[in-house]
Amino acid sequence: MTSKPSSASCDGNGRGTSMCHTGAMQSRRGGTYIGGSYSLPEGMTPDVHYKKDIHCADCHTTGEKGMGDMQRRANCQDCHLEIEDAHAKSIHKNLDCAACHINELRGYQIVIWGPGKVSGKDNPFKKYSLYYGIQGPPILMKDQKGKWMAVKVFPHSVGNIKQEVQPSGKVMFRWPKGETRDPYYIVGTVNAPADNRHLLWIEIQQASHPFGKGRSCESCHKERQTSTSRWEYMDDQGSVNPFTGGYRILADSSGLRITDMKSDQPIVAASGYNLADFASWIYFRDRWQMPGDFSIKADKKKYRNYLDVSRKLNGQLRHLDEVFKVKDAKEKKKYTEAKGEALHSEGALQMLQDFRNKYHVK
Ligand code: HEC
Ligand code: HEC
Ligand code: HEC
Ligand code: HEC
Repeated sequence: MTSKPSSASCDGNGRGTSMCHTGAMQSRRGGTYIGGSYSLPEGMTPDVHYKKDIHCADCHTTGEKGMGDMQRRANCQDCHLEIEDAHAKSIHKNLDCAACHINELRGYQIVIWGPGKVSGKDNPFKKYSLYYGIQGPPILMKDQKGKWMAVKVFPHSVGNIKQEVQPSGKVMFRWPKGETRDPYYIVGTVNAPADNRHLLWIEIQQASHPFGKGRSCESCHKERQTSTSRWEYMDDQGSVNPFTGGYRILADSSGLRITDMKSDQPIVAASGYNLADFASWIYFRDRWQMPGDFSIKADKKKYRNYLDVSRKLNGQLRHLDEVFKVKDAKEKKKYTEAKGEALHSEGALQMLQDFRNKYHVK
């Protein structure tokens, strides 16, 4: 027995609903750490740490009140000190680690609220959220303090709204003082063939897990940020059949927009339902837009220089990976440390040269 709870127990040991951190449908919750059958859709690659037997409480250290007082904030302890120091001095110091190390996001891709049955009774606000799918690569956005974070972006529509609601005009934060970093945007009310006014808004979740390979330079430094979502409708209400579909998220200096929303099959409403109840998005395909500057800027010449260094570095690392494959555990560890540091440093090539000299590696 250890006093440290396993990741699975923090996540309800599967599909429990009584626990705090189930919610594979939410990109930032614990289910995205474990992946596999804890993710929706199933089969997400687990966080690198999970495979190394590192669990929730290793990063989410307990607060003053002990277990049950887990901190939202995570703590990397002393495991990546050199990388953290190197990163803090690099051109990317304004990005959090997740900005580069999260590659895809699962769970809800669209959420519609409309008439339906809740616990067998008619309800004007049933949540049709089972548009489950995969979105990636994550869009980057600045948090309250101007730090770039990876986010999951997905559209909401709430039917049966009486009053008119105005757009929020700019990105909002749920907790302006920073308890969480989740932004949102209110698009405002629009009309569809049924269910009165529909309130459109964009939910934006800071993505925290799973950590995986670092993204390539090119995946971020493009003319605009582009993310693709693919989903499958799995609710047993509303539609006659399940259907699949997708959309794209574009973000640049003229704002962020959700576009190309489509289903791969025609959607047929079951008797007693309108399309506006559970698939109102078909009336609002290009309405989820928000203003703001989401461009990733880098001087062209400076970028080419850094890209050049990065390519040389990767070439050398491929060679050293081979050299150190056959060495003993202690030397391998030294190399892993040097590699991690070089990958996040300004003076990467010099650093690697010093390492080679010290260990007499050609
Ligand atoms: C490798 C370190 C690490 C491990 C292990 C880890 N997390 Fe996290 N987690 C993070 C980071 C980093 C954040 C983002 C925190 C921040 O923004 O300050 C986070 C955020 C979260 C949040 C969101 C908090 C919020 O306010 O939105 C939840 C919930 C969470 N983790 C649950 C879990 C659970 C449950 C496990 C185990 C199944 C787990 N985490 C394992 C690093 C970790
Ligand atoms: C108990 C030690 C430990 C803690 C705590 C820890 N890590 Fe790690 N982390 C590891 C190990 C081991 C690896 C595997 C790679 C390696 O050996 O360097 C790793 C790998 C990573 C990777 C690389 C992923 C890849 O495949 O390239 C990232 C990014 C990362 N950690 C970020 C974090 C962040 C951010 C935190 C704190 C929120 C954190 N880690 C906390 C031990 C830890
Ligand atoms: C600008 C993008 C970027 C940022 C920001 C970033 N990394 Fe990385 N990281 C990479 C790339 C690229 C690699 C090499 C590919 C890989 O192994 O994932 C890497 C590799 C790693 C590795 C594996 C090293 C090894 O020996 O294979 C660790 C550990 C790691 N990063 C930790 C971190 C931590 C901790 C932070 C935040 C302090 C961070 N990274 C921030 C891009 C980034
Ligand atoms: C996850 C997305 C991401 C990846 C991957 C990434 N960058 Fe960046 N990069 C950014 C962002 C965001 C900024 C703007 C930073 C800021 O606002 O402080 C930036 C800034 C820069 C700058 C300008 C820095 C300055 O101070 O003028 C250069 C040059 C650059 N990146 C080169 C690279 C190269 C080369 C790679 C690959 C080794 C890379 N980036 C990988 C997101 C990324």
